[in-house]
Amino acid sequence: MISASVTPPAIDLSGVRLEIRALQPQLVEWRRRLHQRPELGFKEQLTAQLISQQLTSWGIEHLPGVAETGVVATIPGSKPGPVLAIRADMDALPIQELNDVPYRSQHDGVMHACGHDGHTAIALGVAKYLASHQQDFAGTVKILFQPAEEGPGGAKPMIAAGVLANPEVDAIIGLHLWNNLPLGRIGVRSGPLMAAVEMFEAHILGKGGHGAMPHQTIDAIVVSAQIVNALQTIVARNVDPIKSAVVTIGELYAGTAKNIIADTARMKGTVRYFDPAFEGYFGQRVEQIIAGVCQSHGASYELNYWSFYPPLINDAGMAELVRSVALDVVETPAGVVPECQTMGGEDMAFFLQQVPGCYFFLGSANPDKGLAYPHHHPRFDFDEIVLHVGVEMFVRCVEKFCVGRADRLSGGSLSAHSMATMPKGNSKPSQ
Ligand code: NI
Repeated sequence: MISASVTPPAIDLSGVRLEIRALQPQLVEWRRRLHQRPELGFKEQLTAQLISQQLTSWGIEHLPGVAETGVVATIPGSKPGPVLAIRADMDALPIQELNDVPYRSQHDGVMHACGHDGHTAIALGVAKYLASHQQDFAGTVKILFQPAEEGPGGAKPMIAAGVLANPEVDAIIGLHLWNNLPLGRIGVRSGPLMAAVEMFEAHILGKGGHGAMPHQTIDAIVVSAQIVNALQTIVARNVDPIKSAVVTIGELYAGTAKNIIADTARMKGTVRYFDPAFEGYFGQRVEQIIAGVCQSHGASYELNYWSFYPPLINDAGMAELVRSVALDVVETPAGVVPECQTMGGEDMAFFLQQVPGCYFFLGSANPDKGLAYPHHHPRFDFDEIVLHVGVEMFVRCVEKFCVGRADRLSGGSLSAHSMATMPKGNSKPSQ
């Protein structure tokens, strides 16, 4: 998936300031505590408790119970200014962990197999740091600890609960630890980063009968096989080849015995694309194809089609801000890459529909330590050494966006206002 031709540099931590490096043992401890007690979407009670306890201990004003189990922390700077939100997801997956590590999941059948335990730990580190550096930034930082990213989705209910208002959020940033990138590399790009996620389930209704007498039947398996093939023509023949899309049938069930023609068949699939102009299009084509094939065989069908997450689209100005911060943190241009698009989906996309922002990847794989399993795998794990790199990234984004310290240190050419209002497409995309 990653097409970068440059050899990855060894992780360079020289851009991480000493005070943040010192947080590393604490970050690892939080991450492991969360990893041991993973919770599914909207059930993140223990996770929310840990977050709330820590925020309270640092005197940070926060609101628990937002969109059920979400927590919103508000950290004001030393003077008025822009409002930057940082989003961290909190939930785990219904997977039985197969890692044999001291911090392995203690909750049967539930596992942090995507790294959201790391995201929460990083956000706690940012909160702790900012709470003792309020004099170093203007404006306000809101940290959104979001439930249920893996489904059914916590971003939308958080927005509905008003997390982007009072004070009104000017921009939002977030990160995903990413085993598809080498350790310490930062993947950031302007425009589409992750895909829209749509799902469907079709029930094909034929007419069963004897395996030796097909003329008396409508074979649901033959009909389904033609549908599966025909659905692939949407991407191959309907979509502009310059654009990207995927149609996958992940489940197909039919039949009960070798000599019986199946009465019905069920199939389930997913659709992915980057271009928002495709909204509504795939649902329509999927139904046209299923209806057409069924009709030609005298079968009928039932179809359910859902649109889950829109494409995740980064704002050009905010992507440039994150990219410039990343260059400071990793201190080598080869460590910051735009080749990081993925057809995976993320409900961070809903926040980015509301306010300009940037979601980016932080490379977390380390094959030398056996930490290179893909996300959502029962042996997924990541190299914890990148946790403090995540904190440094966010803290520097705050300083650059909200000015203050960055101004004093660099002589201050960057205006927070000009970044916040930079028109889309104004800055050069990072590739
Ligand atoms: Ni994830």
